[in-house]
Amino acid sequence: MNSWPVKPWVVLVGPPGAGKTTVGQHLAASSGRSFRDTDTDVERAAGMSVADIFVEHGEAHFRALEQAAVAAALDDHDGVLALGGGAVLDPATRDLLRTHTVVFLDVDVAEAAARVGLNQSRPLLLGNPRAQLARLLDERRPLYAEVAMVTIDTSGRDAEAVAADVLAALVPA
Ligand code: S3P
Repeated sequence: MNSWPVKPWVVLVGPPGAGKTTVGQHLAASSGRSFRDTDTDVERAAGMSVADIFVEHGEAHFRALEQAAVAAALDDHDGVLALGGGAVLDPATRDLLRTHTVVFLDVDVAEAAARVGLNQSRPLLLGNPRAQLARLLDERRPLYAEVAMVTIDTSGRDAEAVAADVLAALVPA
């Protein structure tokens, strides 16, 4: 019986294309921790892809599933946790994040657009990914910054270098 609360070692937030998954996997591998991604948790719970949830049930339904998945993962994952890019839109989620170690992976619009490319798995970016990303970033940067203890700009940098920066921020020399 363990009554100590479990907390993720680090929670990564940021827009699509910031590299949360790639950087998170590097961080997990190099620190011997496990990696978890709340989009994957939502897909498992729903039995369908994020894109299909948006099409069949709408964004509000996806956000409700996401809020529950984030709350559960914050409660029982002790490794590296990557949140879907829009998770911080939810005030209850922002509230939960206040007691966690959160890193904001930032990226400029041009690089985020290049990284997400024409990948059809992100329903909010369909149509004009660059314009959608610019809008998302304007709207969300203050929210990412609000929940994070540190911001790391990933533009022009590879995942290993960013992971090293995250590690340095977590374990000061
Ligand atoms: C979203 C980002 C996606 C996914 C969903 C909505 C968003 O996750 O949760 O498509 O609102 O920015 P990634 O940030 O991993 O692409």
